[in-house]
Amino acid sequence: MAGAGDAGQQPVVAELHLVTAAFETPAPILAPDLSRLAPSEATAFQPELDDWLRPESDLSSAQDLPLLVGPEANSVRLVIREEDRIVSHAALCELEYTLQNAPTTTLRIGIVGAVATAPEARRRGHAEILVRTLQEHAVAQDLDLVVLWDDTPSGHYYDRFGFVGAGREVLHCTWRDLMDGLVHPDWVRPIGLHDVDALRRLHDTELAGVRRSRETWDRLLAIPRAEVFVLDRTGTPEAYAIVGKGIDLAGCVHDWAGEECALPALVAGIFHHRHDDRLTVMSASWKTTAHRALEFHGVERVEGILGMVWSPDPTVLARRCHRPAATLDQLLSGPDAIPFYLKGFDSM
Ligand SMILES: CC(C)(COP(=O)(O)OP(=O)(O)OC[C@H]1O[C@@H](n2cnc3c(N)ncnc32)[C@H](O)[C@@H]1OP(=O)(O)O)[C@@H](O)C(=O)NCCC(=O)NCCS
Repeated sequence: MAGAGDAGQQPVVAELHLVTAAFETPAPILAPDLSRLAPSEATAFQPELDDWLRPESDLSSAQDLPLLVGPEANSVRLVIREEDRIVSHAALCELEYTLQNAPTTTLRIGIVGAVATAPEARRRGHAEILVRTLQEHAVAQDLDLVVLWDDTPSGHYYDRFGFVGAGREVLHCTWRDLMDGLVHPDWVRPIGLHDVDALRRLHDTELAGVRRSRETWDRLLAIPRAEVFVLDRTGTPEAYAIVGKGIDLAGCVHDWAGEECALPALVAGIFHHRHDDRLTVMSASWKTTAHRALEFHGVERVEGILGMVWSPDPTVLARRCHRPAATLDQLLSGPDAIPFYLKGFDSM
């Protein structure tokens, strides 16, 4: 980002401070070209945003990213305008992440997404202004961590903002043949309306994870192409698993909780309800009982990086998590890492 881009951005840097100060009031005009998306503009703007973000898709991002850009999203949405027309957009949604240690630690996390610029307005530094402004917002709001997933072709767009790949996730590739006969077909069933409280309870007993209110659960469960199954042998769900999420995570169990050793039975039961020959199961690295249970049945395991993270102050984050001062990578991925993992529904 040297040369012309730097020279052009000098006035903007000064404006960022105005922007941060103005976040408290609803939808202010923050600078001639940078503002918050007014709720009244959101519906009309949505098709354009979808064209930039996912031109080939039949689903709107408002449907599968409800907490970030849905009609009732409670997120910070920033836009850049050229001659009154919106040409660039980025959003940040705040989540609470709880570590069930003693005493319980709650981290405030920002998820950044729906970063998109109109094709004819690209390479003018618009997305950069928006992402840097969201980072300023994270500082002003004392967020502990900001997370995103880099879907740009280079996969390195966010390096320039200080985001680094960190956190761990474990992926298991399960095959229909491997799981055949592991469970009575009646024990795994699609979720019913009455199961939502049980799902909440199972999710809330995790060692660590994002807090979800009942309202949040209802919005997430309305995401198209997200199928939810429960393992229920006794009339009370022991575990749940969610496959798919809008245009994302097809054939992938991306969100599950409950009895870890029951995971193979749950996955086996899901095969009874779907046509896939293969399902990928994504898990937190500390769910070792579930990993061992799957691997006992010959399922192969791969490990990957969770996402791109940035912290306003990693030292403060380390202190809050009762860890020695460390880099983000050590704090989220090292041998003494905090249990940090975002399930599919929390990844926006
Ligand atoms: C990715 C995306 C949001 C970037 O938006 P943008 O407004 O063009 O972003 P910027 O202008 O800040 O940076 C884009 C590039 O232009 C370059 N650039 C910025 N200002 C420039 C200038 N004045 N002159 C020349 N190049 C410039 C940047 O260095 C950057 O280069 P890179 O190719 O090495 O990454 C946009 O391409 C897009 O909407 N893509 C489709 C949706 C998408 O993939 N979203 C990301 C989801 S994670």
